[in-house]
Amino acid sequence: MKVYIPRDAAAKALGAEDVVAALRAEAARRGVEVSIIRNGSRGMVWLEPLVEVETPEGRVAFGPMTPAAVAQVFDGGPLSLGLTEDLPWLKAQTRLTFARCGIIDPLSLADYRAHGGLEGLAKAVAMTGAEIVNEVSQSGLRGRGGAGFPTGIKWKTVHDAAAPQKYIVANADEGDSGTFADRMIMEGDPFVLIEGMAIAGLAVGATKGFVYIRSEYPDAIEVMTEAVAIATREGVLGASVLGSGKAFDLEIRTGAGAYVCGEETSLLNSLEGKRGTVRAKPPLPALQGFMNRPTVVNNVISLASVPVILAKGAAFYAGFGLGRSRGTIPLQIAGNVKQGGLYEIAFGLSLREIVQQIGGGTASGRPVKAVQVGGPLGAYLAPHQFDIPFGYEEYSGQNALIGHAGLTVFDDSADMLKLARFAMEFCAIESCGKCTPCRIGAVRGVETIDRIGRGDAAAIPLLTDLCDTMKSGSLCALGGFTPYPVMSALTHFPDDFSATAKEAAE
Ligand SMILES: Cc1cc2nc3c(=O)[nH]c(=O)nc-3n(C[C@H](O)[C@H](O)[C@H](O)COP(=O)(O)O)c2cc1C
Ligand code: SF4
Repeated sequence: MKVYIPRDAAAKALGAEDVVAALRAEAARRGVEVSIIRNGSRGMVWLEPLVEVETPEGRVAFGPMTPAAVAQVFDGGPLSLGLTEDLPWLKAQTRLTFARCGIIDPLSLADYRAHGGLEGLAKAVAMTGAEIVNEVSQSGLRGRGGAGFPTGIKWKTVHDAAAPQKYIVANADEGDSGTFADRMIMEGDPFVLIEGMAIAGLAVGATKGFVYIRSEYPDAIEVMTEAVAIATREGVLGASVLGSGKAFDLEIRTGAGAYVCGEETSLLNSLEGKRGTVRAKPPLPALQGFMNRPTVVNNVISLASVPVILAKGAAFYAGFGLGRSRGTIPLQIAGNVKQGGLYEIAFGLSLREIVQQIGGGTASGRPVKAVQVGGPLGAYLAPHQFDIPFGYEEYSGQNALIGHAGLTVFDDSADMLKLARFAMEFCAIESCGKCTPCRIGAVRGVETIDRIGRGDAAAIPLLTDLCDTMKSGSLCALGGFTPYPVMSALTHFPDDFSATAKEAAE
């Protein structure tokens, strides 16, 4: 009997280890030989721990499994969900980047190859760097870390720079609250990130790469470290990538835990062993990055999307999406929602579809009041904006951003003044201190919101002015984007900022 139980951190947090132990004990009691494969998560977090049993018809899912209910895996029962592939949540997705996540054994290179892994890299070793860069440019891929910058243009800058040494850095700091796509892919399909980074190395002429992972991700660090060792042993990495004669080596580095260390220049300082403060740009990291050498810094998902682009061609990838938002995006649905998890789909869905149909509405059953899109620096979108299609330009037209595609749902009990205060406080705590609008502005911002909360309406224009200053005067997007959550809360939910309304509600 072959059984799959995720080793994913979310599944573990929900009791996967206890389910494994109970299942082994139950199998021994019944005299059934069971082989348990620790796969990645399928992304349906509300069904974790999701146990899957291999059958001639396909895998059959059971979840959310508990140690007390493991007998159902053998006898059937109410936790049986039928064939995994037929689950509507999974079936409606377009899984390009996450195609293998939850399906393969994350640390089996043979399994990875058997499911289309290394096809992109095999093509890349036969191409020139310029050809690879062109393919990525044609795919329309844009950075999934937040800024949405075209990946091909960044790679071309590094490709065209003359230097004795260049680097590839995967940004796996994933500091945005409510996001977990980087973690899930690293734990569920680590070789796809390794393959993407090796392709990036061949494209720009870099022979060395780093994966900078936040210290709060011990499972991802463990899986990635082991995967790099396997890839090196098997010749995917090393002095001759897939026998091409071209070198590419990878090292895993752990961050010490600061939101700002996800900002690329701060990350580079941290990687160099310095304090994680933001560097002024120019010079661009693409020209003077790690150790002052040309460096590609890309988000994990940007890099993990490259293998499928090379394997299936730029036109295939660009065939999904809308406008200038090409390809697919792994939505991370969290907060007050019934069905939270990771859902990969082409750009273009509306928030209404995402929250109501995919997420199943709020967990509390109350009406949705707001959705924060794009992590702690993202705007709160109000119901009148819920029909806007999910795309970079569509969101920036609303003074909002897609960011790393995290969505946090709030019901009508949310107090938007408190959430605006939280955003300012977060900025004050996480500020690297390099520039005044952020370092001082965020502290003054908290004080000003407190004045408004005490009924001082004259402080509202002061808050607006302060946000304008932070937006235009901050050195990086921590101070520069904090006005998005604050101003969207103030603009769309003015009643929450009015003392009379607050008093009336109390
Ligand atoms: C305060 C702050 C935090 C950030 N955190 C992350 C992060 O955790 N992960 C990430 O990929 N990008 C993060 N970014 C964006 C990076 O600076 C950079 O744009 C990104 O890594 C580039 O990769 P991409 O082009 O593939 O998106 C952050 C930016 C700011 C201003
Ligand atoms: S905006 Fe904030 S985090 Fe960014 S450089 Fe200025 S002080 Fe540092």
